Formats: sequence, C-alpha cells, structure tokens
Amino acid sequence: MPPEPPTQPRPSPTSDTAAVRAISEARCVAVLTGAGMSAESGIPTFRGGMEALWKDFDPMQLATPEAYAADPETVTRWYDWRRVKCMEAEPNAGHRALVRLQAELTRRGGGLDILTQNVDGLHARAGSAGVVELHGSIMRWRGVRTGVDCPTPDGPFDAFPPTSPDGEPLRPGVVWFGEPLPTQAVEAAYEAANACDVLLTIGTSAAVYPAAGFIDIAAANGAVTIEVNPDDTEASDRVDIVLRGTAAVVLPELVERAFGAERDQ
Ligand code: OAD
Repeated sequence: MPPEPPTQPRPSPTSDTAAVRAISEARCVAVLTGAGMSAESGIPTFRGGMEALWKDFDPMQLATPEAYAADPETVTRWYDWRRVKCMEAEPNAGHRALVRLQAELTRRGGGLDILTQNVDGLHARAGSAGVVELHGSIMRWRGVRTGVDCPTPDGPFDAFPPTSPDGEPLRPGVVWFGEPLPTQAVEAAYEAANACDVLLTIGTSAAVYPAAGFIDIAAANGAVTIEVNPDDTEASDRVDIVLRGTAAVVLPELVERAFGAERDQ
C-alpha cells in the first residue's frame, strides 16, 4: 500500500464562514504573526514539532545578553546559521495572502497592520508595508557597545563574533529574553491592537509576552479575534474563532472567500 498523503487539518465550516464574514466586514485588521507563519518557507519554529529549535537548543544559552557575554562565538554562530537560513527562504502563500489583504483593505479606506514576532523579514520581502517587528530583525547586526548598524555579508560571516571595520564585536539585531522590545514597535502595536475590528493571530504559540498580550488588548476593544494554527495554543480558549490549518493553506482561502478570486492586474 502506498503511504497516505499528509492531510491538512481543515477549519470547520461554521468557524470558516464566521471568519470570512468578519474579514469582509472589517475596515481595520491587525495580524500578530509568529514562527508558524514562516514554517512553510522552511524556517523552523521554536516550540512544538520535531524540528522546533527550543527542543534541541536552550534559549537561556543562546538568546540572552548573558549568553552572549559568556560565549559570543557560540551565540553568533547560531544566529548567523539562522540568518543564512532566512536569507535562503522565500515568502510562502500565507505571506502573499496578507499582501493582498492589505491591498484590499487599503483600497476600501481601511488598512492592515502586521505585528510580527518573526525576525526573518519575510513579510516585507513578500511586499507587505509598514511591518512592525516586535522582536527585531536577524538581518541587521549592530555593535555591541555603540549600537551602530553594520552591513552583513550575503553569505555567512567569516569570524565569530563578527566585528565592525573598527573591530567592535557585533550582535544580531533581535530582542533577547530579558531585553525590552523596541519602543516604537510596541507603541505601533498598541495603536493597531486598539484600533482594529479584527485581530488574526497566526502561527504563534501565544506563549511569549508582551506580544501575546496584543490579542487581549484587541479583544478588550471589541475586535473579533481569529486564530490560524494547525494546533492548540495558549490563546485557543480565549479567541472568538479558531481556524485549524496552516498559514499557507488557510490564509489564501480566507482572503479569496472574503474578496473573490484575484484578478490579473
Ligand atoms: P512558537 O515556536 O512558540 O510557536 C509556533 C506556532 O506555530 C505553534 O503554535 C505551531 O502550532 C504553529 N505552526 C506550526 N506550523 C505552522 C504553519 N504551517 N502554519 C501556522 N502555524 C503553524 O513561535 P512563536 O509563537 O513565534 O522569541 O514564539 C514566540 C517567541 O518565542 C519567538 O519570537 C522567539 C521565541 O523564543 C525570541 O527569541 C525573543
């Protein structure tokens, strides 16, 4: 017998219809994305699944200022390995569906705000505008003392930790555990969560704060909250609608059902 093809968990028809209606009636939508958004681009998530990063690596030994101070070589090698993986990855159909959603909402006088915990830059590479990077970017590296950004090579760095032309050790431009989120990003995210009619939480375990808190801020302001995820998360019990499936499958269907098939430009 040939092996069964993998099956996608399908959203239930009722929740699916309610989600389509909420999106078609919305003026302003906010999305909170996490690692699962980029899973179908080949970038591993942190939690859940065989490939999850925090299964094989200890975040306290890689993703804290103390870890960098103790062993900058190991920490920067690991982040550079991930940076190269992100450079090699391509946006998936889920990222592209959000580009279309932004265009459709903008056309009707509303808008879409993307609040992402991802550091891979794939939303912007897909063509989304004004992406709020809550956890920074793995593509930008900066001096550990001066904070000055330094260009990164197209391939891996050749020394670890890498250094600026002045010899200053560099660190990745990501937010580590114990560090504050960038002020401007947090302010923009609060504004978006407060203003939206619908908040979509996509591919995040909703385990890390303050990012996960934006779901509750939106809900407290009366937004319809919709989760897109193949598995249960810490937010599943408190969102209005759950769509069980992956980002690259559910999002194109949702946008197409809300706005019709995409026309050739
Ligand atoms: P997690 O790895 O915690 O969660 C990934 C989520 O994506 C899980 O709920 C999966 O079920 C879901 N998922 C997997 N494949 C999917 C797919 N194809 N489509 C949709 N969903 C899918 O990632 P985050 O919630 O982003 O922070 O983690 C939050 C933060 O914790 C990260 O930004 C990082 C990490 O430690 C820092 O490094 C500061």
